[in-house]
Amino acid sequence: MRSAGFPEFSPIIWRGDSLNLIDQTRLPLEEVWFETSDYREVIRAIKEMLVRGAPAIGIAGAYALALAGMELSGTANGDFSERLCEAAREIKAARPTGANLAWAVDRLLTRCLGAQSTAQSTEEIVADLTSESVALHEEDLSFNHRIGRHGARLIPWGSQVLTHCNAGALATGGYGTALGVIRTAWSDQRITRVFATETRPLLQGARLTAWELSQSGIDTTLITDSSAGQLLRRGFVQAIVVGADRIAANGDVANKVGTYSLAVLAKETGVPFYVAAPTSTLDLSLSSGEEITIEERSQDEVLQFASRRTAPPGIDAMNVAFDVTPGRYVTAIVTEQAVSRPPYLKSLSRLAEANVG
Ligand code: MRU
Repeated sequence: MRSAGFPEFSPIIWRGDSLNLIDQTRLPLEEVWFETSDYREVIRAIKEMLVRGAPAIGIAGAYALALAGMELSGTANGDFSERLCEAAREIKAARPTGANLAWAVDRLLTRCLGAQSTAQSTEEIVADLTSESVALHEEDLSFNHRIGRHGARLIPWGSQVLTHCNAGALATGGYGTALGVIRTAWSDQRITRVFATETRPLLQGARLTAWELSQSGIDTTLITDSSAGQLLRRGFVQAIVVGADRIAANGDVANKVGTYSLAVLAKETGVPFYVAAPTSTLDLSLSSGEEITIEERSQDEVLQFASRRTAPPGIDAMNVAFDVTPGRYVTAIVTEQAVSRPPYLKSLSRLAEANVG
């Protein structure tokens, strides 16, 4: 077995009364940790993408709610619940596309502000919010190892694989989803090389995936987004593995913009296209991806490169951060529970149990 050389790393560290986030806007050139005890600052960190990736945003959102609870601790019980729910609404609105943020915050509210809450002191509720956040964080990390084991078996021996954006340790509680599959398959010696797309406009592939994989000693080649088609056509890639932000009941997948184009190219060239995500990313209340809210971000991210203007004055730009890949392009969806295959309406509904309350 080959070592993936990866000490367990999480982009999120809970210190009991404060949250530490590695500032992903500054990687890979600077490794700076941002610390706060203010839940509003966590919301800002999510919006400005100091922390990003659907599962990591969910974990940060959970800790944000615990911090809000600490701030409100001692207020009369009815007011406490009302103000905590208001904070929960603010946290959930920070970024709209990923399913994990609302899922995590709602899980905390359900488990910690349950029917018995009137009998509990606010201090007890805060203790529950904290321990539930830690549990959710640890669970995500362990699920990613399971995703890695399930997914690695799908990768043929001697493969070169392609991944998009960053679905690694940085995007999760640790280890990663798509990169979890890649790490495990690399350790099993199934993978000989990873192609990482740079992922315009914020370069999560060039800055974050390349950083993670090189730290892990995994042979990686960075490519421009637009060269993927040529690589696939020439037979350089045996599998594509990506993460997901939200998956609808029919298997439609919202993920970083550019994922849909890769999936269509994969079908055209006969390359399997795998999506790796925890069941907390499933949103079976949506019948299709048409119902997924797609985040649009500032035009400046397109008009500039590394904070320097590159486009001519007055030009209009569009910056959709995600796209939806129809389930018919997805060979399999790998979760911590199982490898699900089409028809997804059936196979994903079997997983729904795993995600209940
Ligand atoms: O805008 P980002 O960087 O938060 O987008 C991240 C992605 O699209 C990831 O692929 C997705 O969240 C899965 S992360 C395990």
